[in-house]
Amino acid sequence: MSRTPKPKPDRAKQRKDPPIAHPATIRAFQRRLIAWYRKHGRDLPWRRTRDPYAILVSEVMLQQTQVQRALLYYEKFLQKYPTAEDLAQAHEPQVREAWDGLGYYARARNLHKATQQIVTQHRGKFPRNPEELTKLPGIGPYTAGAVSSFAFHRDAAILDTNAARVLRRFFGLVPRQRTPRFLWTVARQVTPKGQAHVFNQAIMDVGATICVARTPRCPHCPLRPVCRQGKTTAPAGSV
Ligand code: ADE
Repeated sequence: MSRTPKPKPDRAKQRKDPPIAHPATIRAFQRRLIAWYRKHGRDLPWRRTRDPYAILVSEVMLQQTQVQRALLYYEKFLQKYPTAEDLAQAHEPQVREAWDGLGYYARARNLHKATQQIVTQHRGKFPRNPEELTKLPGIGPYTAGAVSSFAFHRDAAILDTNAARVLRRFFGLVPRQRTPRFLWTVARQVTPKGQAHVFNQAIMDVGATICVARTPRCPHCPLRPVCRQGKTTAPAGSV
């Protein structure tokens, strides 16, 4: 008697999640975000560099600090510690002083340790892929995706609270689809190959400036004609 074999675990792992939307909808989402960003994206100093260290500094600052506040510290910090090697060699009290005012000092301690590991364990060369980056202290999946895409132009997805809100609304995700795990799956599906570096900045900017939590500015949104939110009765601010 033959029984149907169970799928092998690695096969099961390889099974693809069903697409979140029709490919044409996903393409419209990508194109509209990127076109909008090219015209209206914010000009921020960490967007003018591909230095992974400078990008990491910005992303660590932005983990718990608003853009306007991070701007007051970012360039000063880089003047004091222009490279990962400079920061790795610094004394802790001086690093604390450079971070003073930004709060959540554990971030600076982890950043300091991360640069020491880059120097000692990676011979000063930044890891390029998100999996390797997340092995460094203080670098979670979001920061790893940001550094990998912005500095190395890898096809890495990101998911921060702003991007998650845009995904939830645009694709009309229902409550059981709003888990971080599912949202990461969606983020990976919709990140365009070869353009993650622009797309990631774009989705963050739309989330931070238009698709905001309480009172989204739908009339100004580049996604409006294709957004699921526009097709539901719930006001956008409620999801
Ligand atoms: N918040 C986190 N990362 C950011 C970035 N690269 N630009 C603007 N806001 C951000």
